[in-house]
Amino acid sequence: MARRILVTSALPYANGPIHLGHMVEYIQTDIWARFQRLRGNECYYVCADDAHGTPIMLKARERGVEPEQLIEEMATSHQADFADFLIAFDRYYSTHSEENRHFAELIYQRLEAGGHIERHTIEQLYDPGEGMFLPDRYIKGTCPRCGAAEQYGDSCEACGATYTPAELRDPVSVISGERPEVRESEHFFFRLADFEALLRQWASTEHLQPEIINKLNEWFEAGLRDWDISRDAPYFGFRIPGTDDKYFYVWLDAPIGYMASFRRLADERGIDFDAFWSAERADETELYHFIGKDIAYFHTLFWPAMLHGAGYRTPTAVYCHGFLTVNGQKMSKSRGTFITARTYLDHLDPEYLRYYTAAKLSDSVEDIDLSFDDFVQRVNADVVGKLVNIASRCAGFITKRCDGQLADRLRAPDLFRTFTASAERIADLYERREYARAVREIMQLADQANQYIDAEKPWELAKDPEQLGAVQEIGTVGLNLFRVLVVYIKPIMPQLAADAEAFLDIPALDWSSVQSPLLGHTINRFKPLKTRIDPQHVEAIVEASKESLGGEPAQEREPKGRLAEDPIDETITIDDFAKLDLRVAEVRVAETVEGADKLLRLELDLGGETRQVFAGVRQAYSPEQLIGKQVVCVANLKPRKMRFGTSEGMVLCAGPGGEDLWVVGPDAGAEPGMRVK
Ligand code: MSP
Ligand code: ZN
Repeated sequence: MARRILVTSALPYANGPIHLGHMVEYIQTDIWARFQRLRGNECYYVCADDAHGTPIMLKARERGVEPEQLIEEMATSHQADFADFLIAFDRYYSTHSEENRHFAELIYQRLEAGGHIERHTIEQLYDPGEGMFLPDRYIKGTCPRCGAAEQYGDSCEACGATYTPAELRDPVSVISGERPEVRESEHFFFRLADFEALLRQWASTEHLQPEIINKLNEWFEAGLRDWDISRDAPYFGFRIPGTDDKYFYVWLDAPIGYMASFRRLADERGIDFDAFWSAERADETELYHFIGKDIAYFHTLFWPAMLHGAGYRTPTAVYCHGFLTVNGQKMSKSRGTFITARTYLDHLDPEYLRYYTAAKLSDSVEDIDLSFDDFVQRVNADVVGKLVNIASRCAGFITKRCDGQLADRLRAPDLFRTFTASAERIADLYERREYARAVREIMQLADQANQYIDAEKPWELAKDPEQLGAVQEIGTVGLNLFRVLVVYIKPIMPQLAADAEAFLDIPALDWSSVQSPLLGHTINRFKPLKTRIDPQHVEAIVEASKESLGGEPAQEREPKGRLAEDPIDETITIDDFAKLDLRVAEVRVAETVEGADKLLRLELDLGGETRQVFAGVRQAYSPEQLIGKQVVCVANLKPRKMRFGTSEGMVLCAGPGGEDLWVVGPDAGAEPGMRVK
């Protein structure tokens, strides 16, 4: 029987453009939803813009427009980006909608009636000039622990301390630059701990990945704290019923946006909404949320608790993915690797990114890397060199020699059966989000198809008019193998599939189409389905990304609870840390390196021992500035052979890089060779 499935991706904030990091998630989810539909399941994929919160309110103010206008513009550009990346949402909506207001109020009222909402008066920093309370990230000051200047209101980037904004020394409002004052205000709290038993039970491999379950267990150990779900006016969001000037915190109504979007879709298409959300009918349907690992806390604790507390079903599963890095590093505006969806689309085919992302994704929360060289190489070798190549090698014979007519019989039934026999295994890989493995299987089959053509040498046979029948049969086998592979790759490359369907002149393929071969059928003239990526296009993207985003500050992410920000797989244990042999070192020699405009060659005194280290600090320091300076060096780093010589350690620096880089040095009194702890 067909499964009934509702799938969501996290709702992107309406304060900035969609970038390639986001695209990992929408591509991952879209592949899954398309796969389910190809299998004949009833599958809806909904999403929306996350339109509320302080950053959006302030951004609108800065631009001199109403927030409604800003979110309207963002909604248009986000949806254009998604459509052009072939993300097939059944509905894309906004959290700033009447449906969402309805469900936010309803869920809140049910939680309140159930005794799960409490009120407390809290102290918060207030910007008297702006007339508003300040979120932690809108306050800067001096760290109360280490004295570092310019730290945010919740934690210190220099020493890692966490604190409340009231503890910060010399705080200033990031908005007005004024000194904030402490004021009291009543806030509403959701008693998460009321749901601990439910959540502990829910935290199983049936619903969550093992890495996430581990994280939840840590959170349970630390204790489930009440969650502050209200914000004072002025705020862009929904007013809390029964109050004049309190609003729901953006993260309260954001996940409810999944319901609101589906409500809208259900109304438009006559779908039974309750079958997908009511607790009593939870066994009729499946509900899946795809998210990034940074927002696991909201989706695996608050959200199931809210749903359950309000009498709704809990999700079937929450699937987390890791973060995208580019060329092994965090996306960066200065390196031109903070690439918006639009900049990519201006230069390259969206299916290349879809293919590459799929080729990298698994069911784990590990980060995935977009390496430009690897990207160009994989797409050209696999998509063009293997997959499309099968069709282009066979199509000519069929159109030119056989009037476009496929043979009536299958010349290589065993090979065809090998291909169709993979259907269930590949389906299982898609189902489990093991896309990289599915892609590998598909490309191995493509290799087999090409080997078959190599071995049969139709171009030789074509020289002999007697052999025309054989040529037709070989071409027919090749195109049938291609057709099976098109079905398998269709969730990833729907446009390629549509173009192949047009070329083969057949109705839309689905998963069951692989079982019977296409014989005695006339096909259309072949047009190249994909062309190779020219690396210059990638360079153009990097250049354009440097220009379009040059001066702008990094996109402000909505402040997220401290626990929620806990990175999932980035923590190290004290034992890991203990492996580092950090030493005080004195720079004896510093000199430029011929042919390397970023490096300085240093000779470091580690207390009796001299080490040569190549450090990428040339743009920040002249050699003279470093000589005699004490630095901190990683002394047990494996020596690395470089073009200019061997580097026998690493000098610790702070800062984003380039000119903005500072070597980390000890206080006066330290001696070369001292251990840094
Ligand atoms: N608005 C919230 C989500 C609310 S869901 C009820 C939010 N928005 S976001 O725009 O910051 O991120 C949207 C999704 O994109 C999140 O799942 C996030 O993890 C993901 N990503 C954002 N940057 C990313 C990368 N660099 N790499 C991979 N995914 C990334 O969070
Ligand atoms: Zn500090």
